[in-house]
Amino acid sequence: MSIEIAYNDAPLGHEIRGVDLSEDMDDATFAEIEATYDRYGTIVLRDQRLTPDRQLAFSRRFGPLDRYVLERYNHKKWPEIFVISNIIGDDGEPIGMSDAGRYWHTDMWLTHNPPRGSILYALEIPQENGEPLGDTYFASTGAAYDALPNTLKVRLDTTKAAFSKRQYAEFRARTNKEIDRPSGQASQQALKDLGDEDIIHDIVRVHPRTGRKCLYLCEGVVSHLIGWDKAESDSMIAFLERHVTDPQFVYRHRWRVGDLVMWDNCACLHKATGDFELPLRRHMHRTTLSSARPSA
Ligand SMILES: [Fe+2]
Repeated sequence: MSIEIAYNDAPLGHEIRGVDLSEDMDDATFAEIEATYDRYGTIVLRDQRLTPDRQLAFSRRFGPLDRYVLERYNHKKWPEIFVISNIIGDDGEPIGMSDAGRYWHTDMWLTHNPPRGSILYALEIPQENGEPLGDTYFASTGAAYDALPNTLKVRLDTTKAAFSKRQYAEFRARTNKEIDRPSGQASQQALKDLGDEDIIHDIVRVHPRTGRKCLYLCEGVVSHLIGWDKAESDSMIAFLERHVTDPQFVYRHRWRVGDLVMWDNCACLHKATGDFELPLRRHMHRTTLSSARPSA
């Protein structure tokens, strides 16, 4: 079986058609899907009907999975599924994380070895007047790197950046209007529990599977470029934050129930929008692909 790819105008977010993930898939088809994912950094499969077991089975074909670091948001029965949801449970708390990722970021930049990527499956999507709410934006970090002048590429290639948890906490407190909601408080506490030392990452990451160079940063999180003059570092961080999310590099995903979207944590940044609230419900299951190599 050969997949069909419906390309959009952005450098990522293309749709793979003709694949039913609820059925067993041959190795050749899977290899095409994986190659498309690696190449573009964000792919979309629509009209799926997945149980948690089927989502896990598909996810595991990419290699080992990571459990999300905030354990309270992991599914009780399938703990490798991270629940993103604003539905209130019997205990009066949201049953999943309801305020996840409303800034440009890659997942788990707080760790030294972030996961390869994530697979997000939509079970319930809020709607208003027939239009979906809660879009997710994806920006191609490879296309953004390619568009830089050569002299800047050479300089950034050897630059390391300090990712500041303290600055992130301040950024969230400033920008997240829902910070006083229960899940917001839980997230803040969990963030504190992770410590406050800076995490050092290369500002340019070489994609481990394609070799493509990609910018690596998150909005409001990079405090300084190591070894750079402070003023120059500040202005470069501001420039790169604007540059990497320039509309020419961005795909906007408008969700439908049954969508499965996969993103690569090196090849793109993503950002959720929070333009909905209860009684409009949003409920999703995410699996996280480990950066560890599959065992032979
Ligand atoms: Fe995220």
